[in-house]
Amino acid sequence: MARKPRAVAAVVVFVGSSPGIAAGTQQDGEWTDVTVGPPPASCWSSWTSDELCNPLDTAVQAAVDFTRISLEAGEYRNRGWSEAAPRAAGLANGWVTSITNKKGLIIQAATPDSKPLLRFDGAGGISIKDSQQITLQGLEIEGPAERITGAEASDERARLTSRSLNGSTTGQCSRTECASCSESECGATADCQYDSANGFCRGTTLGYFNGRGIAVWAGSSGSSSLCFRQLAVHHCPASGIRANRANDVVISDNLVYDNLWWTTSGESAIVFAESQGYGLMSIARNVVYGNRNFMPFYSPSLADLPGQTGSNIGHYASWNQDYIIDGSGVYISRNQDFEGTFSLEENTCFDNGINGVVVHNTDNDLVTVIVERNVVFSNGMTTKDVEQRQSAGGFVINSGINVKLWSNTVATSVDGDYAYQCFNICSIIAGGNNKACVPTEVNAVYNDT
Ligand SMILES: *[C@@H]1O[C@H](CO)[C@@H](O)[C@H](O)[C@H]1NC(C)=O
Repeated sequence: MARKPRAVAAVVVFVGSSPGIAAGTQQDGEWTDVTVGPPPASCWSSWTSDELCNPLDTAVQAAVDFTRISLEAGEYRNRGWSEAAPRAAGLANGWVTSITNKKGLIIQAATPDSKPLLRFDGAGGISIKDSQQITLQGLEIEGPAERITGAEASDERARLTSRSLNGSTTGQCSRTECASCSESECGATADCQYDSANGFCRGTTLGYFNGRGIAVWAGSSGSSSLCFRQLAVHHCPASGIRANRANDVVISDNLVYDNLWWTTSGESAIVFAESQGYGLMSIARNVVYGNRNFMPFYSPSLADLPGQTGSNIGHYASWNQDYIIDGSGVYISRNQDFEGTFSLEENTCFDNGINGVVVHNTDNDLVTVIVERNVVFSNGMTTKDVEQRQSAGGFVINSGINVKLWSNTVATSVDGDYAYQCFNICSIIAGGNNKACVPTEVNAVYNDT
């Protein structure tokens, strides 16, 4: 097969008053500046209009190419936000804002000491699709995870499986048993949707239990030249910050904590998945802690996940999966097509459910993965007895090649855990000065690094 030409790396210009902004080749004077203040507090009891109550999204939708939105201190919420808990309604609210088909958009704190708060209880904080040169900087994003209980989330997982908690079914179509609905019943039943690719009715995944802080979605053409920095992202029921099918993305200097608790999607806190292209994908200088899955993974149609290789452990992804093997800090996964460089550098990861840093299904012959100067300790908070996690808890390569591993410091805190662990193909092409603090195990593959 002919090798595709390499694209020229994206140019990142650090413009005048906004250091670190991925501004491409645009000159400072050509940006349109917009300042946005928070809506009146009356919106939280009476959402009179999106224009008044969601000024951030209003500004995003109106933004022309190369617009810089400065957010003043205060709170920005999604339509329908409520602090009701436990709740039976308002489970499928939307994003605070969605960036689709935009080129050149900065959303930043108006001043360095203001930290505008995006508080969501739906699909998430900010979604991005088919966009280029997007920067998010200096924001706090908070999800509803603290208000959700294990019992509620377990009931929701059981609903998605179309079974009761003990696995029984009634054969009757209902919101809690979508799989028993015919195609026409499915459309008429709340929180059920027909999966025409697979020919069955499935439970709709609800944002309240699966919201994400920032998510870049595959869209139709993917997104590139993205920069997410100096953010605090916490209590999102699923991922804190994830980019699917993107190229040239920098996720740096963020605080990402207490995410992932209630999702059934088996996610991790900071994720690059399905990356496409030849550029640089960087996760650097983030502090990542308290992120873990409390719900076992579930998927009624595993084949839908591009690049997923599954697991040969029994009941994987099924209603009765009774173990938790997902929920790590920094995770790159399902990047079989990516031919550029991943750089995972100087992250501090602790108290996460499984591992601190993971390279998974990233095995293109042309990929380079640089993992250096990360500090990883006290992960593996998911239990090995009750939740049956794997013996890892530090840094892991699982089907990853061309990894350069320099100057990492990894400690584990549970007997039998590996500071440096390998599963499947695991090729380290260069490295040195990596430390494994005792007590820990090191997979022999790492002996020369
Ligand atoms: C399983 O759960 C269903 C629904 O809660 C209940 O009706 C049934 O009696 C339970 N079966 C067993 C064997 O516990």
